[in-house]
This record gives sequence, structure tokens and C-alpha cells, in this order.
Amino acid sequence: MWLLILFVVIGLFGSESFVEANFTTNCTIVAKGNLKFPKKFSFGVATSAYQIEGGWNADGKGISTWDEFTHNYPEKIKDGSNGDSAAESYRLFELDLQALKQLGVKHYRFSIAWTRIFPTGDIHLKNQKGIDYYNMVINKLLANKIEPMVTMYHWDLPVGIQKFGGFFNSMIIDQFSDYAEELFKLFGDRVKTWITFNEPNNICKSGYAPTLIEAPGVGDYICFTNVLKAHGATYRLYQKKFAKKQKGKIGITLDIWFVFSKTNNTDDVARAMHYNLGLLAYPIFSKSGDFPPIVLKEIEKSSIEEGRKKSRLPSLGEYWTKIIQGSGDFLGINYYTSRYVKPATEPMGKNPSMERDINVQMDFDPNWPRAKADWLYCVPQGLEGLLKYIRDEYDNVEVKITENGWVDSGELNDDNRIRYYKSHIQAVLNAINDGCNVTSYSAWSLIDNFEWLKGYTEKFGLYYVNMKSNKKGRIPKKSALYYKKVIATRSVPNDV
Ligand code: BGC
Repeated sequence: MWLLILFVVIGLFGSESFVEANFTTNCTIVAKGNLKFPKKFSFGVATSAYQIEGGWNADGKGISTWDEFTHNYPEKIKDGSNGDSAAESYRLFELDLQALKQLGVKHYRFSIAWTRIFPTGDIHLKNQKGIDYYNMVINKLLANKIEPMVTMYHWDLPVGIQKFGGFFNSMIIDQFSDYAEELFKLFGDRVKTWITFNEPNNICKSGYAPTLIEAPGVGDYICFTNVLKAHGATYRLYQKKFAKKQKGKIGITLDIWFVFSKTNNTDDVARAMHYNLGLLAYPIFSKSGDFPPIVLKEIEKSSIEEGRKKSRLPSLGEYWTKIIQGSGDFLGINYYTSRYVKPATEPMGKNPSMERDINVQMDFDPNWPRAKADWLYCVPQGLEGLLKYIRDEYDNVEVKITENGWVDSGELNDDNRIRYYKSHIQAVLNAINDGCNVTSYSAWSLIDNFEWLKGYTEKFGLYYVNMKSNKKGRIPKKSALYYKKVIATRSVPNDV
């Protein structure tokens, strides 16, 4: 009997039925202005090395923090899985290429596994087979008129670097920029769009091996400053040694949930945005550089109140503020969802922590349709709002949407993913029509892949991959065919 009740309850309120209830009406946005994307606008798809490549120890590859973490703590991954084989793109890149060609994308965003090229992380030891692999990928993309957009670091840190403390040790500044310099030498003649880091926010909190990091409100801030310095140093190095000849662009990808206020309190919104986006965007893209003044002031104040001699947020100092300020040709944005914010009535999070420093309550609207993941709601107006916010706050810097996507259980008939893409691509077009300098859009993700702590239980792909088969064919979902139409027509077809 109890079991029966449980099934009924799950049936009524389980995530899938929650989604169905609101989707068709609430995952939408009204089109404003021109119905076609500009000719130069680039549509593409994104992936990352650890999530798709497999071949974790193939051909001399070294061990990354994610190899080590998934092997040592399988119980921390929802299905106990890992990226040892994943979609096997290391062996089967040809299948990815077929899918890319079928979609008709103009660019492909993928990441380089540091350990495939430098097994220990240090540049003294090079692995030619890893270099050959990425040369093959880049050359085949170009032969098919697909522009490579390369992320240098998407969370898979060499354990050899982690041994020194990884992003908690300022050594990472040289370690990363040395690695980046080698990438420019190896591939910069053909790669013209570089992303130094994917989502430092996640790198510094949990993303590069969740067990390694437990120092909220202190360690994450140290990590942020080291990421910003490593990014700035790499940008300056490129300008000095490579830019003239290679003529590429360098940016960084930040993840952000846009925020609204139910009471239209612009101060709440501004504060939350200065923490959530500004901590990393302001030092690079604002006119003055350094962290947002309100963030500097508030964290220093609470640090002193905690009895410390100085702020938990390390000062960038004059030298680094200058290096970092202006060190981005574009801002990469990973947008998935939004929240409502209001000031917390009681202190939030641990003491100390970034959550406590921000101290706002995050809420969702029950009308927002939810995905399989409990954090992902369909809020296209958040993407439009975010792009306008960036236009106004950061002097209309060039924005590349480097990720945007929807998660489900992997069904081929994925109408909800189509609804999500339709409304979000429309949101981008609305923003462009309103003067936002957005030049490209990458759907996450080309294929089903290893979704970090969720293993293979959550799927983001436009193409289905049966992870258990040896063939690992890429099968287009309905959304792949929809996206193909978007690309071919440079518009937002009204299929669903
Ligand atoms: C990450 C991806 C991840 C996606 C969906 C982004 O934060 O860059 O690696 O798969 O979100 O969770």
C-alpha cells in the first residue's frame, strides 16, 4: 500500500510530470524585431574533453584530477561511473565530425585535455600522440569549414599540478601560462578563438575534483585571484608574442544565473550580479578594473568583524589589476537558468562562505518548467535580461554564448529540449535586435556525455549515444534536426 502511494506521489509530482505541466505555455518568449540572425553570427555546439573523450590512459596520456577522483570515490558519482570511456571521442572523432557536418555548424567548441599533451602538467614532458590527436581534430574541422573554438581548461587538471596545490598555489599562474604558450605554438596558426578557463566559479568551488576543495569564503577567493592572474598573464603573453602573427582572440567563459527581484528592487539585483558575475567579470571587463567596489567593501568589513587583519578576498594589487584589466577580447557566457533574489532574513550558508558574503535568498518561480536536474528551470527572459545587463554594465563587450542547454533522460523525441532551444535562441535574437554585441551561440551539447557528479544519468546531447555499446553511434534526437533548421535558416522556426 505504502509503495503504491509512493508511486502515485512520484507520478504526480516527479520531475518529469512537473515539466509537462507548464512547458508549452511557460518556456516561451515573445519575438521582438528582426526575425533573422545577422549573416556573420556563428552557430555551433560545445563539448569538453573529460566528458566525451574517454581514452583516459591511452597513448601516454597522464592522469587528471577527474580521473583520480572518479577512480577513488565512485560512490560520489550518482551511477558510480567515470569518464574512462565516455563517448570515446578520442577513438571515434570521425563520428563527432559527421554529426557536426550534419548540423551544419560554423564552429565547434571543444576543450584540450592538458594531460594528453603534457602528462604531468609540466611542459618539459610532451606527448606527441596527444598533439597528433588535436592536430587531427583541428585539421579535419578546418577541412570542413568548421572553426575550432578551443577551451584550454575545462576542469581536468593534471594531478602533477594538483600536487603543488593547483589553483590554491600562485605557481598555477606560470604553470598555466606556460601550458597556454605551448598551445599557441602548437595550434595557434589554425586556432583563432581561445577560451582560457571554463567557469572559474565552478573550478574554485567544486568543479575540478570536489573532494579537494573545502575552504569556503577563503580558498575559493584565493582560487579566483589565481585564475584571474593566470588568465591575465596568458592574455598579455599572447599579445606580446603571438597576436600580430596569429591574429586570434582570447576570452574567458563565466557561468551565470541571471536574477530578478519580485519587488523590482534594483539594488538587490545589482548586488547579486556584482557577486555572481562581477567577481570575475569586473576585474577583466570594467573600465576601472579590480573587484567590484561593493564586493571589496563588504568582504573586507565582514573579515575585520571576524577578527581578521585583512580581507578574506585577497587584494589583486596594482600590478595585477593592470595586467588583468582589459585582458579579454570577448566574454564567454554559459547560461542555463535564472533565479529570484531577495535579501536574506537570516545569515545564509556557512560562516565564512561566499554564500554568507552575498547573503541573498535565491528562489524560483513555480511556473518555470523544470528539467531533470533540480537546478535547471526554463527561463529564456533571463538570458535576454543578462545580455542587456552585460551590454549596459560592461560597455557592450563582445559576448559569445559558449553553453546553453537542457537536460533530460536521453529520449530521442525531445520536444522539451526543442522548446528550450527555441525560446533561448529567440532570447539571443531579441537581445541582438536591442543592440547587444552577441556574435556566437554554442548549444550544450553535441552528444550525450559524462555529466560530472551525475555520471550518465542526465543527458544534454543533441545526439544520443549508447554508452554501453562498443560502437557508440551518434543518433540525432529530434532537437538535432530542429537546431539544424535554425542554423540553415538563421531564424527561430516555430516547430513546437
Ligand atoms: C559545464 C559543463 C556541464 C554543463 C551542464 C556547465 O557548467 O561547463 O561541463 O556539463 O554545465 O551541467
